[in-house]
Amino acid sequence: MISKRSSEACAHKFRPQLVVALDVDTLDEAKGLVDSLREAVDIFKVGSQLFTASGPEAVRYILRKGKEVFLDLKFHDIPSTAANAVRAAVGLAVDGKSIFMCTLHTLGGRKMLECAVEAASKEARAIGVRRPFLVGVTVLTSEGKKDNILPLILERAGLAKESGLDGVVASSDETAAVRQEFGRDFIIVTPGIRPKGTAVGDQKRVATPAQAVTNGSHFLVVGRPIVGVKNPLASARQILEEIHQAHALVHCQKN
Ligand code: C5P
Repeated sequence: MISKRSSEACAHKFRPQLVVALDVDTLDEAKGLVDSLREAVDIFKVGSQLFTASGPEAVRYILRKGKEVFLDLKFHDIPSTAANAVRAAVGLAVDGKSIFMCTLHTLGGRKMLECAVEAASKEARAIGVRRPFLVGVTVLTSEGKKDNILPLILERAGLAKESGLDGVVASSDETAAVRQEFGRDFIIVTPGIRPKGTAVGDQKRVATPAQAVTNGSHFLVVGRPIVGVKNPLASARQILEEIHQAHALVHCQKN
């Protein structure tokens, strides 16, 4: 069964979207990036580096600017702790708007995932905000390609879906298979995005923005190719153009 939140995401937003990973050391750097990118970018990811350095203030700054927050802390703990962490994440709301999306590790197991979904829904109702999309990490994109990786990812994606999550994080290599197995309303978030000619770094299962869109990704997460260059706005615009063109092509082939 398709979760109500996922079908909302896909009905309203089925247009692949860019997420910029604010992987920086200080709140000031993060604020500078949000300010310089905000005319082009709608969703910013706060991960463990920034959250450890600056805590909820980074999240609140982005929300105050009217932008969306993807909180990528990959919760993986005993069910009650993970559920309480998700509840706290939903509670980071500003003016009736909470974070947009949040990650949990599927390795935490069914009970942890189910408790987290329940806690998120309960807290969202209690404080009167939309429940964030909850997505499960399957296998990190820094892990290399192995023969058994696809079955493992499909198994973890199946667990995520059965536990009530809205989608998964997976590389572009697995996106088409995840889509085929779980349907177009199951959200797929894709990191490891590398425009042609950019450094791969520690990522292994990488794809260009166009490849990720063609394979069916909903959210393309880009860090270093934007935040690590001299002109982040120019780089974001170039990636957005590639996303737009690839989407137009896919759309036109379908119609
Ligand atoms: O700099 P780069 O584009 O490689 O950044 C990718 C971002 O996506 C990082 O913030 C990383 O933590 C995150 N991520 C990932 N692989 C996952 C889940 C999240 O690379 N499976």
